Amino acid sequence: MKLPETINKEALDELRIKITRFGMAYKFALDEISTKVNILKEEFRLVHDYNPIEHVNTRVKSAESLMNKVQRKNLPLSLEVIQESIKDIAGIRIICSFASDIYRISEMIQAQSDIEVIEVKDYIQNPKPNGYQSLHIVMKIPVFMSDRTVKVYVEMQIRTIAMDFWASLEHKIYYKYDKQVPEHLTSQLKEAANTVADLDRKMEYLNNEINILKENEQT
Ligand code: GTP
Ligand code: MG
Repeated sequence: MKLPETINKEALDELRIKITRFGMAYKFALDEISTKVNILKEEFRLVHDYNPIEHVNTRVKSAESLMNKVQRKNLPLSLEVIQESIKDIAGIRIICSFASDIYRISEMIQAQSDIEVIEVKDYIQNPKPNGYQSLHIVMKIPVFMSDRTVKVYVEMQIRTIAMDFWASLEHKIYYKYDKQVPEHLTSQLKEAANTVADLDRKMEYLNNEINILKENEQT
């Protein structure tokens, strides 16, 4: 590749470091938020003798899908602009046991003083038209680097195992049909989402009943 003459070696090295640091900041942000979630999980288990979290996944958006999004959004190729406009470069997904756990976790996370909540989208109270359910929190968290502090966006998705089951399969179907799912299938997907919501309500009810029985046994 022939480089423009105006870009000298120093400038190129600087750019390389800038890009590497850019990517690292998101990984560090996910390390930080994962630690926070782990602390909540362990402490909650100790105090309440109960673990509300089934599992946690994190991912940094791949360079390819980041570039696709940059193009889709017609953004200039500037790290600063990308950093400010794309809020899901770092993503964490927390899978809870019961629907009520979602709000518990969300409150505990939002109460932390170094987390700046930017936006909360409650697709459980207001599911998407296709039936998608999940609680999304876009937040900004500080990452302490050797010579500076950078604040980066992290997108957190919190949902139950049942909601996650639906979302994973819907995602596969969506891509299988090249994002054009036939109408008779979209209506059935929506029905399946309603079944998921019913199932979550039933499991929540059973869990409450079991807790009441346990409490009565102890008294
Ligand atoms: P974009 O990430 O630019 O699409 O932003 P947005 O404002 O549309 O964000 P939204 O909170 O609606 O969705 C962000 C993420 O949630 C997506 O990248 C998916 O991981 C997940 N998501 C949203 N809608 C759906 C859906 O209909 N099906 C599935 N499987 N996942 C979804
Ligand atoms: Mg979207």
